[in-house]
Amino acid sequence: MQVREIFETMEWGPAPESAAEALDWIARHGGRFGLFIGGRFTEPGVAFATKTPATGEVLAEVTQASVAEVDAAVAAARAAQPGWAALSGHERARHLYALARGVQRQARLFAVLETLDTGKPIRESRDIDVPLVARHFSYHAGMAQLMASGMPGRVALGVCGQIVPWNFPLLMLAWKIAPALAAGNTVVLKPAEWTPLTALRFAELCRQVGLPEGVVNIVTGDGAVGEAIVAHAGVDKIAFTGSTEVGRRIRRATAGTGKALTLELGGKSPYIVFDDADLDSAVEGLVDAIWFNAGQVCCAGSRLLVQGGVAEVFHAKLRARMDRLRVGDPLDKAVDVGAVVDPAHRARVARMVAQESEGEVWHAACPIPETGAYYPPTLITGLSPASPLMQEEIFGPVLVSGTFRTPDEAVHLANDTRYGLAASVWSETLNLALGVAPRLEAGVIWVNGTNMFDAAAGFGGLRESGFGREGGWEGMLAYTKDGGETKPLVPVAPMTGEAGQQGLDRTAKLYIGGRQVRPDGGYARDVFGAGGRLLAQVPAAGRKDVRNAVEAARKANGWAQATAYNRAQVIYYMAENLSARAAEIADRLDAMTGTGEGAAELEASVGRLFHWAAWADKWEGRMKPVPLRGTALAMRAPVGVIGVFCPDESPLLGFVTCLGAAMAMGNRVVAIASEPFPLAATDFCQVLETSDVPAGVANVLTGTHADLAPVLAAHMDVEAVWSFSSSDVSGAIERESTGNLKRTWVNHGRARDWAGAAGESVAFLEAATEVKTVWVPWGE
Ligand code: NAI
Repeated sequence: MQVREIFETMEWGPAPESAAEALDWIARHGGRFGLFIGGRFTEPGVAFATKTPATGEVLAEVTQASVAEVDAAVAAARAAQPGWAALSGHERARHLYALARGVQRQARLFAVLETLDTGKPIRESRDIDVPLVARHFSYHAGMAQLMASGMPGRVALGVCGQIVPWNFPLLMLAWKIAPALAAGNTVVLKPAEWTPLTALRFAELCRQVGLPEGVVNIVTGDGAVGEAIVAHAGVDKIAFTGSTEVGRRIRRATAGTGKALTLELGGKSPYIVFDDADLDSAVEGLVDAIWFNAGQVCCAGSRLLVQGGVAEVFHAKLRARMDRLRVGDPLDKAVDVGAVVDPAHRARVARMVAQESEGEVWHAACPIPETGAYYPPTLITGLSPASPLMQEEIFGPVLVSGTFRTPDEAVHLANDTRYGLAASVWSETLNLALGVAPRLEAGVIWVNGTNMFDAAAGFGGLRESGFGREGGWEGMLAYTKDGGETKPLVPVAPMTGEAGQQGLDRTAKLYIGGRQVRPDGGYARDVFGAGGRLLAQVPAAGRKDVRNAVEAARKANGWAQATAYNRAQVIYYMAENLSARAAEIADRLDAMTGTGEGAAELEASVGRLFHWAAWADKWEGRMKPVPLRGTALAMRAPVGVIGVFCPDESPLLGFVTCLGAAMAMGNRVVAIASEPFPLAATDFCQVLETSDVPAGVANVLTGTHADLAPVLAAHMDVEAVWSFSSSDVSGAIERESTGNLKRTWVNHGRARDWAGAAGESVAFLEAATEVKTVWVPWGE
């Protein structure tokens, strides 16, 4: 072909990246890899093949770790942890910085290996994955340096088990390992079975830069190896990225063990295009949103919602653009969409699309290689919002599309999903875009953009997309714990007395939706005072009462929109009214507990309400210095409806601490009063009635914690459950929370000093808010 002919057609010629060095590296290892434990590779054991999806060729044989090898990896991490945590922040920073530099030095090798193993275009692994990996280690070198001064009192968790998926093997490794190491943890990481190679190359890098032995351990294998890590008693935290189904299984397996857990799961993220958007930019953005890594991206903008008036023209532009996508050899530098990760996954995507009967399926007319795991870029229109393909994660290059009429409808449709990972909003009208963004139920929201990531900005989801953030200070928090010593919680038994004894003051009621109500079941329990005197009867709330309270709380969603100033005023008013009844309530506390500390507890409770009222308008978000002409706003959003099992050791102070903190941040609360001393909370309901608290914001139930814990934890309309109960309910709450993967914060039988610093800790504010990161580019 002559140059002149090339100019006439403007066809792309092949621009292949060489695989020679990566294949050499594999060959140098004899094409077989062991595990990386305690700073050295083990002899390869029972092996499985890892293939390149572009051609199906075997790249290498990799070891399926045994349970004994997982044990050895955890033991190596355990042995290394105290020494690693004892290094100064600066020394850890030097190691992380060396890893960042090492990744940069070997950038092309890492990129080619990643492309060979995953099938993603070299353009992506070279320009996005690997630079972000270096950025992550570099950023967290800074975190190691600053941890002592920037996060005073926080210490490492210990040994972290980390399980990553196949879509961003090296990037997810970096997201997991960098913050863990920065905080002084050691790790056992398992890459996905389809894509283990870059993790093994990274293991080698750890040796090359002189990372202390045992700080990073890499074990390869399938889900069984992941399960062994999750089940291992020597692991203090599990960090998982992958499917929601496996995330649920891990939540159940770790329930009640005291292991910390973060889950970054699936999504069906909406991509909202308003009629005043720059449509051409929105089409380009969409290419990035859904055909980046062939749509195998947890936060892929896989659900297009386009305003009715421009839907036709937008779809036409989109189809024209799809026809021009270049699908093919991922090592070709001019290819837009590579292979999907494995023929089995291709078959899964094809099956999901084939099962669709309702919509109109349209495949791009661009040529697709005949061999290899390729799937054509696909658009499906005409689906109803409830259609399975509008709701289920396809995890392939398949976009589904629906329309909306008004901004309210857009928000409603966007939030009509069980997921809550990411969202994009496209509009040239500033007020519209910035008005819609915070109303979207997602952990990450991009305004006029998509798929922007940076180590400084937290990433993670809500709802069934999981919990916990990766990146930023919020990500570091998830790899640390409070360094203060805690004591075991001594269960508090209710006072006893003789039934039928005289002296009953009154019968308490439940407090639901701003009203005192009788329990549905009609049962009540005697509450005796210190001297065995019958003080009152309290209702035994049941399932129906829990449902009613949650429903009332859901309806009170105006509280989340109330200004922080307004919320503070209401909480100050609660404190004022509590103060006005100080003598009466203090006497009641004394009558119940017999400690004689009622007046002091009451005084502390008034102070605690002032404390949270003060925080209401001061728990600020952050503006993240991300590499962008614009910013990423880390906003603090209320979690939603929070169920709280109140502590028994400080029945009033513990109750107002939880209620006040949750309300100050805009949450609605269903509080289960202390079981032995419930009157502290039921008396407080009269304070709630007189303090302008909107109906449904605070609901108070009494009853048996062990009975109510699974019910509240399983409720699909509750976003979080906290427990400070002295009953053993932590495990039940964690186990039952898997339905909607709600956040849990439970005591695992450890005591809290409610009157001291732990009682007014910002941990309550962290637990009462979600960090929502809103990316706002600016400029023309
Ligand atoms: P997966 O969730 O099974 O695999 C992710 C990781 O978890 C892998 O390392 C795997 O070996 C490990 N694993 C599997 N079972 C485990 C268990 N019981 N305990 C501990 N670890 C376990 O994801 P899979 O099967 O590869 O993909 C299925 C679907 O999940 C995809 O089609 C996609 O919809 C979704 N997915 C979502 C990802 C995300 O980033 N949100 C990533 C990967 C998959």
